[in-house]
Amino acid sequence: MKVKIDGRTLNYRNVWMEGKTINMIDQTRLPFEFRIHKTNSYKETAEAIRRMQIRGAPAIGVAASYGLAQASLEFKYLEPKKFWKLMEEVTQEFLNTRPTAVDLRNMVVRMLMAMKKAETPPQCVEIAFNESQRIAEENAEACKNIGLLGRNLIRNGKGVLTHCNTGALGTVDYGTALSIIRFAHYQNKSFYVLATETRPWLQGRLTSWELTQEDIKHYVIADNAAGYYMKKGDVQIVLVGADRILSNGDVINKIGTYTLATLARENKIPFIVAAPTTSIDLNLKTEDIRIEERDSREITSLRGYNKEKHEFQIIKLYPTDQAKNPVFDITPANYISKIITENQIIEPPYNLKKQLI
Ligand code: MRU
Repeated sequence: MKVKIDGRTLNYRNVWMEGKTINMIDQTRLPFEFRIHKTNSYKETAEAIRRMQIRGAPAIGVAASYGLAQASLEFKYLEPKKFWKLMEEVTQEFLNTRPTAVDLRNMVVRMLMAMKKAETPPQCVEIAFNESQRIAEENAEACKNIGLLGRNLIRNGKGVLTHCNTGALGTVDYGTALSIIRFAHYQNKSFYVLATETRPWLQGRLTSWELTQEDIKHYVIADNAAGYYMKKGDVQIVLVGADRILSNGDVINKIGTYTLATLARENKIPFIVAAPTTSIDLNLKTEDIRIEERDSREITSLRGYNKEKHEFQIIKLYPTDQAKNPVFDITPANYISKIITENQIIEPPYNLKKQLI
């Protein structure tokens, strides 16, 4: 992704590994400070995922995969039985960091399957490093293809509404829904983006930052302004990502996605979900989904940046910390016009077990 620093445009990935160190763009500091957060142990990596220094379904899956490689290195000299017991525990710890996005599970399971082919812990370390690197590369490639496949859905003219941050910051590079926006922009199309704030964590600030790096015209809007713009005729398409797509086409994504899908249907606006195949779950049913609930203080307080003091500050908004904070919701398949993966554009009626290529 492009990052403008001191008048220069550099190219960064969101997350990458060098030796035993995982580097990630710290998303708790953007858009005010561009910092690379480094983790040197699997515990630090799991903590970074929990704290959302790295976030977005594919990005946390890749971070957890790298984290398993770190763990294998940390336990390299233990006898095999102990080594595998600890690796199972580490896997569980990563699975519990953020339970709703399925990429993390899919990628971690893939890591374990590869690692189990090793005959010794040192051999396992080598496999883990190589496999996690492959997973990261494949994600970047998949996200690029999503953008290339989806870009023609955007026309010149009206607004493209997007929710949460589905950009390079939520993946290894390019993004999902935002990859489509990125590649439509590279076609020199003239359109603008309406980026929802995405209360309470305000992932909209990340989207605005990424669009600014690319010089893509955009406006941040309050989540509850979306219906106003749709009704007014200002929105040509709604593009979102996914944390988990079920075989029946139901989509689990950032809280507020269901509201936007309902409004889009009411206003006859195409509602598109873009995600790599690592975000697809062909096993669970809608009623089995576990929605992550986060700290209520994400709602009752605001975290902002004091420019004079160069520091982040927490401001309390409510007299209470009693709030409900489910961070994902489920959008039923019949609200979704198309699902775009790196391989295909899938149309309803959805039966992904049969439709996936
Ligand atoms: O809680 P977050 O910020 O990790 O949630 C991210 C989303 O809901 C995205 O829409 C999703 O991961 C797909 S795009 C990377």
